Amino acid sequence: MKEQLDALSAAMFADLGTALSEKGLQELKVRYLGKKGELTAVMKCLGTLSPEERPLAGQAINAIKERFEEEFASRLAGVKEADKLHRLASERIDVTLPGRRNSVGTRHPVTLVMEEVSEIFAGLGFQVAEGPEIELDFYNFEALNFPKDHPARDMQDTFFLEGERLLRTHTSPVQVRTMLRHAPPVRIIAPGTVYRCDSDATHSPMFHQIEGLMVDKGITFGDLKGILTIFLNQYFGKGIGMRLRPSFFPFTEPSAEVDIACVICKGAGCRVCKNSGWLEILGAGMVDPEVFRHVGYNPDEVTGFAFGMGIERLAMLKYGINDMRFLFENDIRFLSQF
Ligand code: PHE
Repeated sequence: MKEQLDALSAAMFADLGTALSEKGLQELKVRYLGKKGELTAVMKCLGTLSPEERPLAGQAINAIKERFEEEFASRLAGVKEADKLHRLASERIDVTLPGRRNSVGTRHPVTLVMEEVSEIFAGLGFQVAEGPEIELDFYNFEALNFPKDHPARDMQDTFFLEGERLLRTHTSPVQVRTMLRHAPPVRIIAPGTVYRCDSDATHSPMFHQIEGLMVDKGITFGDLKGILTIFLNQYFGKGIGMRLRPSFFPFTEPSAEVDIACVICKGAGCRVCKNSGWLEILGAGMVDPEVFRHVGYNPDEVTGFAFGMGIERLAMLKYGINDMRFLFENDIRFLSQF
C-alpha cells in the first residue's frame, strides 16, 4: 500500500501544479478526494489492513489529503488572482483616446428664413401671432369673405377634414383670430405651416407662409408699400427693384401682387424669372371692410393692410435652391450647408 500511496500522491501534486483554471482545479479535487475519488478509494481499503498497519496508513492518507487541500487552496487563490489581473488588463480604459464627438445640427433653411423675416418685422413693431393648423371653415374662408360656393375657394386646393374642419390653406385665418381677440390697433406677423393639395418642383402639399396685418386709424396703401419696401430691402439687399400689380383676394380691396427684380439675373431675364426679369414674391392689399365686419371692427373708423408670402420661395431665392423638394427631403448633406 505504501508504494501505491506514494505513486498516487506524486500524481496528485504533479496534476495540481499544472492545473491552470479554477475549473481544472475543481475537477482534480473531485477526481482525487470526491466520493468516488482515487484517494477515497484507497481510504476505503484500510479495513483490509492489519490492526498494526491501519493507523500508520490512515495517518499517511490524512497527511496527503491535508496537504492536497492546502495546496489546492493556494493554487485556487493564485488562479483567481491571475484571472482578475487578466480581466483588469483587458477591460482597461484608455483615457487618452479621443472621444466620439456628437455632430452638431444646423437650423433648417425654412426656420432660418422664418426667424430672419420675424426679426425684420419685429424691428418695425410687429408682434408674432399664431393659430392652429387644423382650422374651421369660418376662419380659413367665411370670415375672410369667401362665401360658400365662391369660386375663389377652388383656387386653394383645400384638404378637408370631417365636419367644418380643414387644414388651413394659408396663414390669413390668424388675421381673423387676432382681430376677434384684440381691439385695434393691431400690428402682427404670423409665421406658420399651411397645406394645399398640390405637388411638383415648386409646390409642396405642406409649406410655410408669413402673414402680416396692420390695422389702425388712417392706415393707407402707402403705408403698405412703405413697410414692404423696407422689408424687401433688408431681406434681399438694398436697392432691390420692386413693383406692384393689381390682383384679387376676397379679403383685401384693392389687392396687389408684389414682384421683386429677379435676384438671379437682376432684371435682365433668365430661366428662373421666365425671362420677365421679375419674381412674384407676395400677395397684399387693404383689408376688405367685409372682413372688419366679421370680426366686429368698424370699417368707418379703422383701415388696415395685410400681406402674405411663401417662406420656401423666400428661402429658395435667397439660397439659390432650384427645387422645393430639397427643403423637405431632409438630406443631411443638403441641410448642413446652411
Ligand atoms: N393668403 C393669401 C394666399 O395665401 C396671401 C395674402 C395674404 C394676400 C394677405 C393678401 C393679403 O395666397
